[in-house]
Amino acid sequence: MGKTLVGKVQYGAWLIARALFFGGIFSVPIASASELAAIELTDTCPPSFRLSDDNRCSLRHMYQLYDSLQDSGIGGLKTALPEARDGFSPQQIDLGRLLFFDPILSADNSLSCATCHNPNQGFSDAMGRSMGIKGQVQKRSAPTLWNSTFLSSFFWDARASSFEEQALGPLFSAHEMGNTPEQLMSSLNGVSAYKRLFEQAFPRQASAISVANVIRALTAFQSSLVSLNSRYDRYAHGYHKALNDDEIAGLNVFRSFVARCSQCHTPPLFTNQQVAVIGTPEPKGLPRDTGAEETFNSKLLRGGFKVPTLRNIAQTAPYMHSGRFKTLREAVEFYTGGRGHAVPADEDLLLHWHISEPNLTSNEIDQLVDFMKTLSDESLIPGTPKRLPSDLPFKHMENTHEKT
Ligand code: HEC
Ligand code: HEC
Repeated sequence: MGKTLVGKVQYGAWLIARALFFGGIFSVPIASASELAAIELTDTCPPSFRLSDDNRCSLRHMYQLYDSLQDSGIGGLKTALPEARDGFSPQQIDLGRLLFFDPILSADNSLSCATCHNPNQGFSDAMGRSMGIKGQVQKRSAPTLWNSTFLSSFFWDARASSFEEQALGPLFSAHEMGNTPEQLMSSLNGVSAYKRLFEQAFPRQASAISVANVIRALTAFQSSLVSLNSRYDRYAHGYHKALNDDEIAGLNVFRSFVARCSQCHTPPLFTNQQVAVIGTPEPKGLPRDTGAEETFNSKLLRGGFKVPTLRNIAQTAPYMHSGRFKTLREAVEFYTGGRGHAVPADEDLLLHWHISEPNLTSNEIDQLVDFMKTLSDESLIPGTPKRLPSDLPFKHMENTHEKT
């Protein structure tokens, strides 16, 4: 009996020791060290950004050498860009990168921002219309995020005027990521790595994990997606050989008053940031997307969409607000099909005056396509994180670019 008692006492002591070791004081540093050491926020700015003494990254690019659009004319080469959103810290940009790829932002962990804005697909998703939570097909296609730091309005119908306003859309829409602010806060607070990383990115704040800081970090990350070193850019800065003869011919068609592309897709951003009604067709069987009519409560803008940038356009097929055109050539052919040719007879759209009848030849169409392909530059593509603070699996096609 004594023996058994001793055995029990010893066993009990062992249990206590084990509990102390694995579940008690020792386990905290052991578990958290292995869990947390893996993910650190960087303290350097992305390429093209310069770090200031107060830990902010500011964008540097060649177009800062030029004054304005005024003297060079629509389609001119050495013209300025609008102001970018910059001034975020390296840590905020990096935290935004982790959040961007993390499906923890969606209600059921099924999709991240990168699901629909996949860096491998020009920050789009190669779908005509994106697919949201529980397979819900969206009304429109996912625009590229390259150079959105220069935009003054967001969404195809220009209904948001900042990244901050825009981000509330996908996060809390029942059709997209389906989350609620309460659930988002509780899932992020449940991940100890995020607690630490938010405190690093937002020091001296009482509660670093907040919806505002999630959105600020996402804004910081998106502001770093800059694409200004395409072959076109090198040509624009004076290196004539950067484009071949067909591409230069294409640029000249692009900015001619016959084709008028550059009136709306104005270099160097390749959008004048305005809304235009151009009368693209809807996918077969779908009703007309009224576009900016709702945003501005104006019949004049029925069927109007924000002029999209053409930067990295070769990477973001299919084209137009609902992905109606599969190839760049089809998209260009639309413009030469005759003013209003795709508008149904019972629909009265007020087409923009720059939508004309350019009668482009097949060769000119090819040259326009050749030219648009020179607008590709993905040199500043961010690395996909090795793993996510939430440890959830990625929900986008694996990035083949170098991981960090
Ligand atoms: C379900 C797919 C999907 C997800 C997930 C998604 N987006 Fe989008 N995104 C879209 C679509 C579709 C649009 C265009 C919607 C419209 O214009 O009405 C869009 C538009 C945008 C725009 C506007 C770009 C422009 O040029 O106007 C930004 C910026 C953006 N998304 C960022 C994000 C961020 C950040 C996240 C993650 C919080 C996210 N998106 C998640 C599909 C998605
Ligand atoms: C009146 C302004 C205007 C002119 C002129 C114009 N565009 Fe567009 N472009 C737009 C608008 C607005 C859209 C989006 C329309 C939609 O989604 O239904 C668009 C879309 C596009 C797209 C698809 C972009 C994407 O991300 O899906 C391409 C490619 C394009 N235009 C090329 C051209 C070319 C080439 C020309 C000259 C032949 C041209 N555009 C002339 C306003 C214009």
